[in-house]
Amino acid sequence: MAQVSLSNVRKIYPGGFEAVRGFSLDIADGEFVVLVGPSGCGKTTTLRLVAGLEDISEGQVSIGGRVVNEVHPKDRDIAMVFQKYALYPHMSAYKNMAFALKLRKVPKPEIDSRVRAAAAMLGIEELLDRKPGKMSGGQQQRVAVGRAIVRNPKAFLFDEPLSNLDAKLRVTTRAELKALHQRLKTTTIYVTHDQEEAMTLGDRIVVMHKGQIQQADSPLEVYRHPANRFVASFIGTPPMNFLEGELVQEGSAVVFIEHTANGATGAGLRIPLTAEQSAKVRMRTGQAITLGLRPQMLREASPGARDRFEAGPVVSLEVRVVEPLGETMDVFATTPGGHKVVARVPAKQSLIPAGVHNFVVDMTQAHLFEPGELGVNLLLDR
Ligand SMILES: Nc1ncnc2c1ncn2[C@@H]1O[C@H](COP(=O)(O)OP(=O)(O)OP(=O)(O)O)[C@@H](O)[C@H]1O
Ligand SMILES: [Mg+2]
Repeated sequence: MAQVSLSNVRKIYPGGFEAVRGFSLDIADGEFVVLVGPSGCGKTTTLRLVAGLEDISEGQVSIGGRVVNEVHPKDRDIAMVFQKYALYPHMSAYKNMAFALKLRKVPKPEIDSRVRAAAAMLGIEELLDRKPGKMSGGQQQRVAVGRAIVRNPKAFLFDEPLSNLDAKLRVTTRAELKALHQRLKTTTIYVTHDQEEAMTLGDRIVVMHKGQIQQADSPLEVYRHPANRFVASFIGTPPMNFLEGELVQEGSAVVFIEHTANGATGAGLRIPLTAEQSAKVRMRTGQAITLGLRPQMLREASPGARDRFEAGPVVSLEVRVVEPLGETMDVFATTPGGHKVVARVPAKQSLIPAGVHNFVVDMTQAHLFEPGELGVNLLLDR
């Protein structure tokens, strides 16, 4: 096991495209770190730089305190599991798992005990004689993980290892991987574009955008205190709603006034900020600002409701479509200013009919961002 550090790492591919731009991260011994971000943001490239499968253009990668920029991949003592498991088709599961050890001339009895221990851990003992072509995707995935485990590496690198599995198997295998890490405590870097997978697996999640880290924190910290609008939009389902507008001072309160978009004719929403929020953004009155509301922070207004929503401001939304999900339902609506929003509300006996309805906003959980895709979160204490 080992610490993995990246310091100011850049990757410029031949042709000049800069896929990783000044990436710095210290991963503690035994930590499970998830790199998450949209397609093309540089997750795989970063992993390949750690593995040694790509040359580092600038900066330093170290594993266990040793700089490995010039170290051959096979001497870095790490194991990588890819999305395509790349098992050898003509070899049994046993031989697939034993192969790397055999190349290293590990004595046969030791290979056998390591392969059998890994197989037991992964529940694939009965598959050991079978070839990959005769296994399900989930079974092949476990063999691929087994092949990484037997090497007893300093670190595991996973690149979207669950994306070939169906939704149900993905959830159970995800839990198995987490349990496995709790058991082996091997330093792990795990890549996914699935924010839910990132949230559930990581000790820490690293949100990337165009080759750069936007935020690296515990999953709940990233969810509750997103550093900027991009992070806020990427983490959480359904994604956070964003309303463009400006702040105005009204007496001692600061009020968010929604700008009208897409040719909407009605006046925009007016939502007072809390006293605490007002104090933080008072100097920004008159300036453009983005209000961020998670779908869970909107509730249909009902006179009898007694919860944290009771005291919040009421907004009227034009409901277009309602999707029942069981315990909850997603309400797709439009604001008077023409912004599309989603509210995730507790399910009721009947769906909310299309038309204008009042919703309560839990403003204590709202976020305010500077304008733009990477606009910083103005309510964070820094
Ligand atoms: N060999 C290459 N030569 C030039 N550009 C490349 C090369 N490999 C990747 N890129 C570019 O670098 C960027 C990052 O690619 P990378 O594969 O790291 O993204 P990713 O975050 O893993 O995306 P995905 O979620 O789709 O797997 C992309 O814009 C990609 O087109
Ligand atoms: Mg990738």
